[in-house]
Amino acid sequence: MTDTTPPQDSDRSHSDTDKACGVVGADQLTALAANADNHQIPRWLLAELRSDHAGEAGAVMIYRGILAASKDPGVRRFARDHLETELEHLRLMEQLLPQSSRTALLPLWRMMGWLTGALPALFGANAVYATIDSVETFVDTHYQEQVDRLDPEGKFKALRELLVRCQQDEIAHRDEARQFAHNKRGLLLACWQWLVGAGSSTAVKVARRF
Ligand SMILES: [Fe+2]
Ligand SMILES: [Fe+2]
Repeated sequence: MTDTTPPQDSDRSHSDTDKACGVVGADQLTALAANADNHQIPRWLLAELRSDHAGEAGAVMIYRGILAASKDPGVRRFARDHLETELEHLRLMEQLLPQSSRTALLPLWRMMGWLTGALPALFGANAVYATIDSVETFVDTHYQEQVDRLDPEGKFKALRELLVRCQQDEIAHRDEARQFAHNKRGLLLACWQWLVGAGSSTAVKVARRF
């Protein structure tokens, strides 16, 4: 039987994936960042990394929004644990991407992220878990598209590895949210989940360019 108990302080079910992106060494990160700085990264990949950086900045704010609006102890522990991983992802993306290549719309992505966390938190734990399920389902696909385009033995092998490990963290976040959510979801929540998915997709399209 599936354990649907909200996470406890001692429950670190995804701890083995926390900071998993750290598998790529600092020297490799520096080399990748130098590539980006010297325009050695293909245009499409730079655009994807810009959207990844924007997405991780948004993800940090989703969990900050949840923490600002929710008093539920289980939700707060869930958000604190995930926030730690998202801060690590953001730190990695900041190391990878020179300032000049980053999205110009960071304040927008941060605000949208905060609202994506805070609004469902006002409606309770199930709305939060359903929202995270939708967000991370989208992010899993987004990372997979990039991984599929990169040669596992090519010039960007280390970057591909980093993206795969970040993707694994997002899958763990999705699965944890799915585990704690109720199966029964009303029409309003279903509409909100659709909006979150469509909004994430639109944000990526915009962040690739601006
Ligand atoms: Fe992330
Ligand atoms: Fe995540």
